[in-house]
Amino acid sequence: MDKLNLVSGMRSTGKLHLGHYMGVLTNWVKLQEEYNCFYFVADWHALTTKYNETANLRQDKLDVVLDWLACGIDPDKSTIYFQSNVLQIAELHILLSMITPNNWVERDPTLKDMVKILKNKDGDTSENIPQVNYGLLGYPILMSADIMAMNGAVVPVGVDQLAHLEITRDIARRFNNIYKTNLFNEPMPKLTQIPLLMGVDGQKMGKSFHNDIKISDDEQTTEKKIMLCITDRSRARKDDLGHPDKCEVAYKYYEIFADSETVNQVNCECKAGQRGCADCKRQLGRIINEKFAPIRQKRIELAKDMDKVRDIIREGGKKAAAEAEKTMIKVREAVNI
Ligand code: TRP
Ligand code: SF4
Repeated sequence: MDKLNLVSGMRSTGKLHLGHYMGVLTNWVKLQEEYNCFYFVADWHALTTKYNETANLRQDKLDVVLDWLACGIDPDKSTIYFQSNVLQIAELHILLSMITPNNWVERDPTLKDMVKILKNKDGDTSENIPQVNYGLLGYPILMSADIMAMNGAVVPVGVDQLAHLEITRDIARRFNNIYKTNLFNEPMPKLTQIPLLMGVDGQKMGKSFHNDIKISDDEQTTEKKIMLCITDRSRARKDDLGHPDKCEVAYKYYEIFADSETVNQVNCECKAGQRGCADCKRQLGRIINEKFAPIRQKRIELAKDMDKVRDIIREGGKKAAAEAEKTMIKVREAVNI
């Protein structure tokens, strides 16, 4: 049987962090075996909030793909592309916008979060509602076009994107009803079970919170950032008895990145007051560096030949456009345009 099409995208945020790696990329790498995967950089979506901050956009897009390739997203297995290289997505977005009621997009709960981001960006702490541009309002419609153009059956996303996917399913159903067709299936979300990785300060890991460790950080930078990790706050001296369960970040990272033997040893020594937090974090930095060394090395190699990387993206764009064109031939016919 043919593999089902799977579609997922990331906005072009620039270099990715370990939260992306643990939460999304390891999952994407595995899914390549089971599905026909379409992985793209959502650069049009980036413009819905960053329309006036495009100076780094081109570099950011390349950095995202470099991280994907280094982590094992394989262009021989998956289609890797920039959204804006597939014009059929824009065409489908227009057609879908014609049939999507205003209140479906205005109700989108994620829109409120994005509005908050816009406000913070303007340094606005008032209760004023910032201007919402037409493109931002259309965010879930564009996302629907991303998925439906590729005939996506499965969409791996985090919980924050579930509301969008619900709109996609509604739009697919409405299209079929209006144009009396069964052209579109209703794509299913595939929730990632892996919990979000916290940043070194214990908050959600994110670029804008300055608490993230990048996949591409060098060893020294990683070690420095790991030293900032929050530990058991009640502990002042090395021989104070520690509480790994109250060690807010460092021990949690051990549980995620270290083997179970090491975790056990850290646990015992910490409780017995035989392990200082500074030493403990130095060891943690080494463990993380060891784990990411092959990925980082691969990224460095890839970055030496950016023409090749651009080729991969261009070829992926052609493949994605061919897939989307198959859909659009049927869509144009259904709409009679
Ligand atoms: N909105 C998604 C995010 O912010 C990115 C995205 C755009 C996406 N289009 C998509 C994800 C289509 C899955 C499918 O994470
Ligand atoms: Fe956390 Fe390690 Fe310090 Fe224990 S010794 S509190 S596990 S950093």
